[in-house]
Formats: sequence, structure tokens, C-alpha cells
Amino acid sequence: MMKTPYYQYDIGLLQRTLSEAKSEASLYGYHIHYAIKANANPTLLGIIAKAGFGADCVSGNEIHAALSNGFSPSGIVFAGVGKTDDEIELSIRNDIYCIHCESVQELEVIDRIAHHQKRRTRVALRINPNVNANTHKSITTGLKQNKFGLTLTEAKALLSSTSKYANVEIIGLHFHIGSQILDMDVFKHLALAVNSIQEELGTQSLPYLNVGGGLGINYQNPELHPIPDFKSYFSTFRTWLKHGNGQKVHFELGRSLVGQCGQLITCVLYTKGNEDKRFVVVDAGMNALIRPALYGAVHRIVNLKKRELPEKFVYDVVGPICETTDCLGEEVLLPETERGDLLAIQSCGAYAESMVSDYNLRDRPGNEFCNAETPETIHL
Ligand code: LLP
Repeated sequence: MMKTPYYQYDIGLLQRTLSEAKSEASLYGYHIHYAIKANANPTLLGIIAKAGFGADCVSGNEIHAALSNGFSPSGIVFAGVGKTDDEIELSIRNDIYCIHCESVQELEVIDRIAHHQKRRTRVALRINPNVNANTHKSITTGLKQNKFGLTLTEAKALLSSTSKYANVEIIGLHFHIGSQILDMDVFKHLALAVNSIQEELGTQSLPYLNVGGGLGINYQNPELHPIPDFKSYFSTFRTWLKHGNGQKVHFELGRSLVGQCGQLITCVLYTKGNEDKRFVVVDAGMNALIRPALYGAVHRIVNLKKRELPEKFVYDVVGPICETTDCLGEEVLLPETERGDLLAIQSCGAYAESMVSDYNLRDRPGNEFCNAETPETIHL
């Protein structure tokens, strides 16, 4: 038996999700880059690379992870408001597909570093479209008050002074407005904003248009909705997004590709209670899964040993960390739960293992790979 807590990944579900995303996107000739920040587990990266996805990276180390797990440099894009000189140097040296530039100063630095390397490098301008993603405020990125991207005015100025940046080829635009978005109207608004920005800047003749990621998953009922609605997502862009004839449309999906294939398995150490509350104390804490503490995220929790029993007791599921916010689930309905029971915290494939820390010097959770359709452990 694996030592708890550990992340268990359903490889079969991952593969079905990837193939569904890919076939819906390819109906319209759309390209998908996997946003590595969602989960950089090397086994998952290998599978996603093999399935033919590109990679969206936000650090030099993510570029290293992409390259060493099978992604081709020509499918790698690199975003981030604070790229260091070393990271820019690395991406130019490896001739990745494109750097998403987020400020005027950054373009000057990219140009200078490309000049030193005697190369011309491809860049897309990340524009903040000021579109409300209607999602949790901590994962909204496309509003004026957020730190991301260039303003339209800055982009316009850069596009009309390209001769100043002789070592840079501006190939198009990049957008990303936020994450865990389930309302397709938000993507419609993004598409309309992109259309008018492209019209204003005259960028439809450029080869590249990247509209980011953000498609959400169902955290309330993952068993009923294991695969996100890629059909509605891509067809929304197909309906509303206008792009130039020679312009390829790219996406950067993270959560929707990997979110439902992972769960955090944790063991119940103790149960206790007082007049107001019952607590289940488990061996996974906010170091293993920070989303509830950081964003008030709610993950479904099930008692694996008592799946058949009615969930009629209300518990706070708490971890061992010395912080009051170390609560993985507040007022969770579970069957009567005892020391030694195993709990599965579901929908933990995205932004869970990748946000693990060793706070309180706790061990990092291990990994197990399985295929729920043929319930045995896979040794990869
Ligand atoms: N592209 C860019 C530029 C991004 O910043 C992100 C996510 C993505 C793509 C992928 O977005 P997705 O398809 O996964 O929604 N830690 C938070 C989520 C932070 C998202 C950061 N950026 C959470 O646990 O909910």
C-alpha cells in the first residue's frame, strides 16, 4: 500500500480527456498548448507531449521540464510578467516557438538578448483586454487592475515602431483572462474583445493568435462530469472569433485537461468533536493541497472505505499543519468516519500537486498511477 498522502492519477481518464479536447479543437484547426503550471508531474507531461500538445510555460524551469519530457521546442510558448534575463536567454537559445511579451521594457530586453545571440526571435504581444472573467478574484487576469499584459495603447506604439526591435519578429497577439470559467458567455466576450482589438491594431495578417486558457471543471460532481465541455468551448470561439485567413488560433489549457484525472488520497488519523463541530483530522495538509486555504476552493471529498454508506454526518476535514486555515473541507457530508479510513479529495489533477510546499517540513505527497476502468495500479 502507498504511503499516504499521495496523488493518484487516472491515466485512462487523462487520455480520454486529451483525445476529446484534441478532436474538438482540430475540427476548426485550433492548436492547444498544455499549461504546465497546472501540473508538471513528469509522467503526465510525457503522456500529454505524446498526445501531440504544445506547452505553455511560465518559467525557465517549466521550459526545461517541457523539453525533457518530450515537448518539441517548436510547440513551446513562454509567458509571464517577470521573465528574468536568464529565462529569456534560455528560450531564445532553445528556439522555442514564441515569447509572450508583457511590457515595453521586456521587449527591449528580448531584443537585446536576441542580438547577443545573433538570432531573430518570435514574440507575441500579450494584451490585457479588460474583460471580466466572472471567476474568483484571485484567478482573474484580464482586468485593467491586474498586472498582466500590455495596454492597447502600448501595443499600438510597439507595432508601429517594430524597426526599433530588429532582432524581434512580432508574430501576433496573446490574451488570457482567467481560470475556472464555466460560463461560455465570458469566452464570447473575450472573442468579441479580441476581434475589435485585432481590427484596431491591424494584426489579422499576422500568423499567430493565442486566446489563452481558462475553461473550468465541475468540482461539485466530478464523477458525473469527468470530461469538460470542450465542444461548447471551442464552438463558442468558432462562432464569435474572427481571425485572419493565414492566422492560426492557439489555446493554453491547463485545468480542463488534467483537473479531473487526479485525486489526493489521505488517511484519517483521528476524529474528535465538541458541541459545535465534528473534526476529521487527516494526514494531508495545506502543504499538500493549498486551494481550499488560498481561494476557499471546495473539492468533493469521499470516504473510500465506506462508499456505499449514506453521507449523513457533517465534518470539517482538517490537516496536521499549525494554521487554522489548514482545512481541506468545511462542513463536508461523509458517512460515519473513523481512524484508518481513506478519503479521496477529488478534482485534484490541476493546481494541486504543482502547488505543493514543504511547509512545517512535511513530506511531499507521492504518486500512484491507475486506470479506473481496469482498476489496478500502473507501473510507469
Ligand atoms: N495561460 C496563462 C497565461 C495563464 O496564466 C494560465 C493560468 C493558463 C493559461 C491556464 O489556465 P487554465 O486553463 O488552467 O485555467 N492556482 C489557481 C489557478 C491559477 C491559474 C493561473 N494561470 C487555482 O488553483 O485555481
